[in-house]
Amino acid sequence: MSYRYLILGADGQLGSELRSLMAQAQVHDAPVTYAYADYEECDVTDADMVAQYFSEHERFDAVFNAAAYTAVDDAEGRPDKAMMVNAVGAAHVAAACREKGSRLIHFSTDFVFGDGHNFPIDELAEPEPLSVYGSTKLVGEQLAMQNHSATAVLRTSGLYSRWGSNFLRSIASHARDKERIEVVDDQFISPTPTTTLARAALELANGPLFMGGVYHASSHGECTWFEFAQAIVEGLDINAEVVATTSEKWGAPAQRPEYCVLDNRRLRLMGLDTFGDWEEELSAFLGEHGDLI
Ligand SMILES: NC(=O)c1ccc[n+]([C@@H]2O[C@H](COP(=O)([O-])OP(=O)(O)OC[C@H]3O[C@@H](n4cnc5c(N)ncnc54)[C@H](OP(=O)(O)O)[C@@H]3O)[C@@H](O)[C@H]2O)c1
Repeated sequence: MSYRYLILGADGQLGSELRSLMAQAQVHDAPVTYAYADYEECDVTDADMVAQYFSEHERFDAVFNAAAYTAVDDAEGRPDKAMMVNAVGAAHVAAACREKGSRLIHFSTDFVFGDGHNFPIDELAEPEPLSVYGSTKLVGEQLAMQNHSATAVLRTSGLYSRWGSNFLRSIASHARDKERIEVVDDQFISPTPTTTLARAALELANGPLFMGGVYHASSHGECTWFEFAQAIVEGLDINAEVVATTSEKWGAPAQRPEYCVLDNRRLRLMGLDTFGDWEEELSAFLGEHGDLI
């Protein structure tokens, strides 16, 4: 028996990681087969295209929906676009998974939370998004779960990888170009590598008892974006000064929560929390992939 998976949003950073993982994965000692698609093959905003894609392919055991509109600041000026991809798109994918009897792993964000938190946030906390991006991701979570009961939503934080655009790669590139970079020091996150997230998602998808609902899935511990940037610059041995600034001075179009560190309570209770401390995860990542960054 072999396990069949589909990765949507396959050209993004998490989609690329999932593809890389599936290429080598074995599940219950059986090989894995997988299909993958981005916009061109399966635009999640197009209900007919999604339905047709699913009807043209043999049934998938699990679908990993990494398709998303992730430009947090740009989303403020493009709420309809963000809503179509992050919310309506999630509903289309969930409906197709329900029709075919496939488990759905849908990805979401710590930016569904608002202010007022000061210790790691578990899955029981009430979301209160501050941005268009966060609001559309929250609606996407709800629509995915309403349309298909076998949906697990994995909320993560500060995602980085060797692919695509992410905070780690932009800091490395700016720090190499400039002697001094400014980074906000009043927003707390838990930087998470796509490698650990992809493995956790696969593990959850293959459990003998699949439990839907929301899961928090991020590295342990916490830091500000400034501290994360400092650790990146030091880890890559880049000769640049990292200077702390405030969100107010930075003036990004989208408001972000001051504290959105996640507590992986559900994964931990199920014995599936394989995430490590963020600093150890970062150092392992830079040790393996630092020369490609
Ligand atoms: N990045 C982070 O720091 C972070 C933090 C917390 C949670 N997350 C969540 O983690 C998940 C993966 O994020 P990521 O960083 O891998 O995002 P990403 O790199 O931006 O990848 C998203 C992919 O989805 C594609 N896409 C956009 N619209 C689509 C559509 N209509 N149909 C099909 N594909 C479409 C994008 O294509 P284009 O690039 O061509 O638009 C891109 O290839 C998302 O759910 C995100 O909300 C990310």
